[in-house]
Amino acid sequence: MKAIFCESYGAPEQLRSRDVPVPIPKDRQVLVRVHATTVNDYDWSMVIGRPHIYRLFFGIFRPRRPIPGMELAGKVVALGPNATRWRVGDAVYGDTSNGGLGTFAEFAAVPEDELRRMPEGLSFVEAAAIPHALELAYQAVVEIGKLKDGERVLINGAGGGVGTFALQLAKRQGCTVWGVDTGEKLQAMTAMGFDRVIDYKQLDFTQLGERFDLVVDTKTTRSAGGLARALTPAGRYVTVGGDPGRLIALLFARWFGRRNMRIVALKSNKNQDALAPLLSGGALKAVIDGPYAFHELPRLIRRFGEGLHTGKVVVRVSEEQ
Ligand SMILES: NC(=O)c1ccc[n+]([C@@H]2O[C@H](COP(=O)([O-])OP(=O)(O)OC[C@H]3O[C@@H](n4cnc5c(N)ncnc54)[C@H](OP(=O)(O)O)[C@@H]3O)[C@@H](O)[C@H]2O)c1
Repeated sequence: MKAIFCESYGAPEQLRSRDVPVPIPKDRQVLVRVHATTVNDYDWSMVIGRPHIYRLFFGIFRPRRPIPGMELAGKVVALGPNATRWRVGDAVYGDTSNGGLGTFAEFAAVPEDELRRMPEGLSFVEAAAIPHALELAYQAVVEIGKLKDGERVLINGAGGGVGTFALQLAKRQGCTVWGVDTGEKLQAMTAMGFDRVIDYKQLDFTQLGERFDLVVDTKTTRSAGGLARALTPAGRYVTVGGDPGRLIALLFARWFGRRNMRIVALKSNKNQDALAPLLSGGALKAVIDGPYAFHELPRLIRRFGEGLHTGKVVVRVSEEQ
């Protein structure tokens, strides 16, 4: 099968597509024919090997598992020993990051519990763009942020996969939503439904004198003190990730009394089945950058890393859709 191979840390342009053996599914794994995959933060970090601390997970000197990719939509083509959850031919999708990477390939062996049934009516391209970003957004906005109808919300790093789902979730509850991102993305973000958009290179949202009931962050670029200024007295701040130094500072801030500041520890695929009716009915939709061809993946990892995308970068791995 074709797979994108990453033998050493460095520029995405060094990556090559190689012919490698199709993986054999192990205990409670299934083999999935990958029809579509996406580019995520993990892929960028794994390929460039930075931040360096991530090498503790990926491999100190070189990636232990050389095929990047953590999100897929496709069809089950074989069952490993003791795999009982799926049948050959089932259309599935999922965030496979708990079970390892490896979706930048024509086939991936995935723990059966890392997959969900594809919602009715969605193409593989549409489905692949959903699980990682929607779960992060849902867990931040609904489960931890406990958003109430009509509240004022600000999303920092709003133009990517998580921010665009967080917007849709907040709009379903009749909220006013501000979005912060780069100037180039602001027009597209207004068209998506943000009530007010801010260029982070021009303005610091913590210095505007505006207060929000919920701030959802994908970048964690501001200090805990600054964030506190942007919250109403009962306001909550929830981040899904970003600057490692700021995240550590937030943990300390929480220990020292800022109980309303939380970091999401993602539970992959947790709510996907419950959200499937909204996805099938079109009430929630991934914003898709692409779909692109498989051979473009090295360029697309760079595109993601440099923040040139809006929504999810999706790659078509097979012609079947
Ligand atoms: N909590 C967990 O368990 C967990 C698990 C996996 C991943 N994550 C994290 O989840 C996040 C994924 O979010 P995503 O997929 O939505 O990312 P994304 O698609 O990269 O979107 C982030 C957006 O933020 C913008 N941005 C960059 N710098 C900014 C700044 N200083 N201020 C405001 N906006 C800025 C980016 O635009 P430009 O780059 O063009 O400026 C981009 O549009 C990552 O932080 C990842 O590490 C968390």
